[in-house]
Amino acid sequence: MAAPRLLLGFLVVLACFSETCFAAISFSSLRRTLVVTASHPQRLLKAGEDKIIVTWGLNQTFPAGTDSAYKTIKVQLCYAPISQVDRAWRKTVDNLSKDKTCQFKIVKGPYTTTNQTSEWTIERDVPTATYFVRAYALDAKDNEVAYGQNTDAKKTTNLFEIQAITGRHVSLDIASVCFSAFSIVALMGFFLAEKRKGSKAQQ
Ligand SMILES: *[C@@H]1O[C@H](CO)[C@@H](O)[C@H](O)[C@H]1NC(C)=O
Ligand SMILES: *[C@@H]1O[C@H](CO)[C@@H](O)[C@H](O)[C@H]1NC(C)=O
Ligand SMILES: *[C@@H]1O[C@H](CO)[C@@H](O)[C@H](O)[C@H]1NC(C)=O
Repeated sequence: MAAPRLLLGFLVVLACFSETCFAAISFSSLRRTLVVTASHPQRLLKAGEDKIIVTWGLNQTFPAGTDSAYKTIKVQLCYAPISQVDRAWRKTVDNLSKDKTCQFKIVKGPYTTTNQTSEWTIERDVPTATYFVRAYALDAKDNEVAYGQNTDAKKTTNLFEIQAITGRHVSLDIASVCFSAFSIVALMGFFLAEKRKGSKAQQ
């Protein structure tokens, strides 16, 4: 009698490993119960340098106990729609196991019933794009059960831009300044030469 049960148990474990055991959680099924704010020195931030201060907590209009199943909080940096256009690798999919909106971890830790704040220095590998911040509440099984974000449902407000480290090489800037200076000198030289030629022809 024990052998078939053991086999069944084994099959269940196997099924879990082959992904079917992961509950398919859809974003649209999550309740927006968290209030998330992100503050930063300016709207255009530099990867590897600037900091974002994220604050999250339960929206107090929900009754006490709403968050009783929340065990972990996961805060992420997410692509705004404008930076997802024509980029399948950043696509928003309602099935959370396939969603590519939020790809950068800001912080993950135990959920507390009081507001929490975390300061994050934008990691050096974050690409140039427009972003927002989202927090997911996870239950004891690490499944998403609720969320909150620093923008509206359509992801149009409070967005900020991050400039990647490779888009702003100082040497490149110097080179372009030198090049423009050179072009102005060259243009002036050309202009003077033409003028001299013109006055010679008049004589
Ligand atoms: C979500 O994606 C996972 C992994 O690909 C899949 O197993 C699951 O069936 C999908 N769920 C829905 C509702 O499409
Ligand atoms: C809190 O939740 C209520 C009800 O869903 C909503 O109307 C309100 O805008 C939320 N407050 C914040 C700060 O998100
Ligand atoms: C938590 O944050 C919300 C929204 O920013 C605020 O309304 C509330 O007073 C804060 N609660 C505490 C205990 O600081």
